[in-house]
Amino acid sequence: MPITSLHDLMLHGLKDVYSAERQLVQAMPAMAKNATSDELRTAMETHLEQTKEQVTRLKQVFELLDAGPGNMKCKAMEGLIAEGKDLIDEDIEPAVLDAGLIAAAQRIEHYEISAYGTLAEYANVLGLDEVRDLLEQSLDEEKETDVLLTQLAEGGINQFAQNGDESEEDEATEKASRKKSASKSASGSRRAAPKKKAAS
Ligand SMILES: [Fe+2]
Ligand SMILES: [Fe+2]
Repeated sequence: MPITSLHDLMLHGLKDVYSAERQLVQAMPAMAKNATSDELRTAMETHLEQTKEQVTRLKQVFELLDAGPGNMKCKAMEGLIAEGKDLIDEDIEPAVLDAGLIAAAQRIEHYEISAYGTLAEYANVLGLDEVRDLLEQSLDEEKETDVLLTQLAEGGINQFAQNGDESEEDEATEKASRKKSASKSASGSRRAAPKKKAAS
């Protein structure tokens, strides 16, 4: 369909974010399941429920605009989700993964905040007040989630990732030195070495 007006551009963007939200409904349970922190897991599960409502809200928007949701694929969200999955698949300490999951989730939230912010403003300019209000509801939820994720990161999860890393390093160093004194052929922990490098 040709895009010749702001209304067309808004519809294009709505189809994109509809795809993004639906991809998230599929992907978020695995992210939540891999969170070690109860608070983080609860935050992700709560946002999963909100995300389902956001899909419903977008369906209402399409109805108001008398348009179909199409079958676009949001490639940006596909990539953001793939990066989150890649991190989960790494050989990664659970406490460190929590910090990484927050980072991945916040990239997702920022993408959504950008998408909804733009679309709500288009609806505003086009005088589509009901559409704007629905989009702003979702925008507010994305912003609240982003703030909550920052609070979780700064309120202990990043620190815990750092502490867990340090204590594990100490343990690995101790083990390695004990091994070394028992046998000169000890090579130490393969995982401890690069982490130490990254921490310095
Ligand atoms: Fe969302
Ligand atoms: Fe979101």
